Amino acid sequence: MLLRLSYFSRSLVSRSPDEVDAFLGPARENNRASGITGLLLHVDGWFLQLLEGERAAVSQLYNSLVQDYRHCEVTLVEAGEIRERKFPNAAMGLITPSPQCPGRMIRFGPAGTFNPTMMSVPSVLALFDSFIGDTRLSAFS
Ligand SMILES: Cc1cc2nc3c(=O)[nH]c(=O)nc-3n(C[C@H](O)[C@H](O)[C@H](O)COP(=O)(O)O)c2cc1C
Repeated sequence: MLLRLSYFSRSLVSRSPDEVDAFLGPARENNRASGITGLLLHVDGWFLQLLEGERAAVSQLYNSLVQDYRHCEVTLVEAGEIRERKFPNAAMGLITPSPQCPGRMIRFGPAGTFNPTMMSVPSVLALFDSFIGDTRLSAFS
């Protein structure tokens, strides 16, 4: 059975791509081994992540993510059974939009800045959907 889970959290790592790359390399290896795919957004001091995979694998990963010192205030957005994955080719894509990226954010949030606490579940999912087919993700298969 496939499960999808999304959450947001406050990032405690710097905006330097190196720091995120450092943990995402091993994370992608883990994900490949356990059949997890998804997308991680790192923007304006927030993480917003979508995980998809076998129910036990996603639950196990979420349990360890919640305890990770690199972020705090981990807040579940939604979790549920799915028929198919949104990002079957991304062992964990990383998107780091420019700090304001008002163009995209005004589509999905009440203000032009990124604040996942202000976003509805359908808006969060629509934001993820807007990255389906994004050529930047092909590097993360
Ligand atoms: C924002 C964020 C996203 C992460 N995403 C993943 C991921 O997709 N897969 C993964 O294996 N670890 C990910 N990690 C790292 C995990 O929290 C954890 O360090 C890793 O699963 C190893 O856990 P373990 O030491 O309990 O085995 C992420 C960490 C953070 C802070």
